[in-house]
Amino acid sequence: MSLESPESGQETFTHNVEFELNGSPERHCVPTSATVLDLLRNSCGKQGVRASCERSVCGACTVLVDDLPVAACSTFAFDIEGARVETVEGLAAQDGTLSAQQQAFSECGGFQCGFCTSGMLMLTTGLLRQNPQPNREEIRDWISSNTCRCTGYEMILESVERAAELAGAKQQDQASE
Ligand code: FES
Ligand code: FES
Repeated sequence: MSLESPESGQETFTHNVEFELNGSPERHCVPTSATVLDLLRNSCGKQGVRASCERSVCGACTVLVDDLPVAACSTFAFDIEGARVETVEGLAAQDGTLSAQQQAFSECGGFQCGFCTSGMLMLTTGLLRQNPQPNREEIRDWISSNTCRCTGYEMILESVERAAELAGAKQQDQASE
């Protein structure tokens, strides 16, 4: 299928994309050139997905695709066909209870301007799914794809360690219920 772009008068090819977003089904028709960033912000209203460098350098746009961190600015929307996508909007519970990651960043002051925070939270979520008890070096390595410019990283490292503690405690509570 193709449409004529009103700006250029040139043909624009489009693509239907079906995927799961924060647990709910989504279906959108997007230009073939659209990125996941375009799709999530413009078609799905997920403004927590931040655009900064748009060149796969800063990590601000990080979302999870099938549990793995992905730079939304540098991934074509058609590539998430059938995938499970998670953004920062899906972290808190329905009643507003913060996730372990959000709670930890808040407790430890893991942000200053906050611009990098949604990407950091998604990175942390992905890390703790793969490695629930990461050491300091593993955390540093994992979050190196996000070039936060404000905090010197120390408080973020502490936040990720605290998130691992809180998530572990939560799992133990659930297991003993
Ligand atoms: S905006 Fe995607 S990596 Fe910087
Ligand atoms: S808190 Fe400002 S970029 Fe990370």
